[in-house]
Amino acid sequence: MDNLLELMINRRSVRKYSAEPVTDEQIKTITTAALLSPSGHSKYPCEFVVVKDRDTLEKMSHCRVAVAKMLNNASCAIVTIADSDKSDTIIEDSSIAMMNMHLMAASLGLGSCWIQLRSRDAEDGTNSEDYIRSVLNIPDHYLCQAILSIGGLEKTPKPHDINKLNFDKIHLEQF
Ligand SMILES: Cc1cc2nc3c(=O)[nH]c(=O)nc-3n(C[C@H](O)[C@H](O)[C@H](O)COP(=O)(O)O)c2cc1C
Repeated sequence: MDNLLELMINRRSVRKYSAEPVTDEQIKTITTAALLSPSGHSKYPCEFVVVKDRDTLEKMSHCRVAVAKMLNNASCAIVTIADSDKSDTIIEDSSIAMMNMHLMAASLGLGSCWIQLRSRDAEDGTNSEDYIRSVLNIPDHYLCQAILSIGGLEKTPKPHDINKLNFDKIHLEQF
C-alpha cells in the first residue's frame, strides 16, 4: 500500500518526452493494466487503439485546440474507446482504464498525459470524438473518451506535496 501511495505522489501529467521509444513490452504492460480495470456489471465495453505511426499521431494532435500538441513528440498514444451497445457505464469504465494506464506508465518510469475527447472540440470545429473516429476508423457507436499520450521522461517531474492536500474535503460521518 505504501508503494501505491508513493506512485500516486510521484505521478504527474507529462507533456514533454525524450526521444527514447516506448517498447512493445512496455505497451503490453500498460494495456494489460487497462484490461485489468473493473467494469460495471462485468460488461467490459472498453477497447484500446495503440498508435505509433508518426503521421497518424500528427493528425491526432489536431483533435483539440492547443492541448493535444504533445502527441507530436509522444512515442505512442493509446485511445480508450467503449462500445455504447454493451454497457451503460462506458464513461466510468473508460475513466478507470485511463487511470490504470496512466499509473502503470508512471510505474514504468514513463511520462504520460490524459487528452480529453468527450465534450471537447477539434481544431477544425468538429467535435473531438468525431475527429478521432474519422482518423482511426472507429465506428460511431463507440465512445471515444480520451487519449493517453506516452513517452520517455526528459526530466523527473515534481512530485505532489502531500502536505498541501486539502483534507477539509474529507467529511466524517455526515457532510
Ligand atoms: C478528465 C481529464 C481531462 C484532462 N484533459 C487534458 C487535456 O486534454 N490536455 C492536457 O494537457 N491535460 C489534460 N488533463 C491533465 C490535467 O491537466 C492534470 O491532471 C492536472 O493539471 C493535474 O496535474 P497532474 O496530473 O500533474 O497532477 C486532463 C486530466 C483529466 C483527469
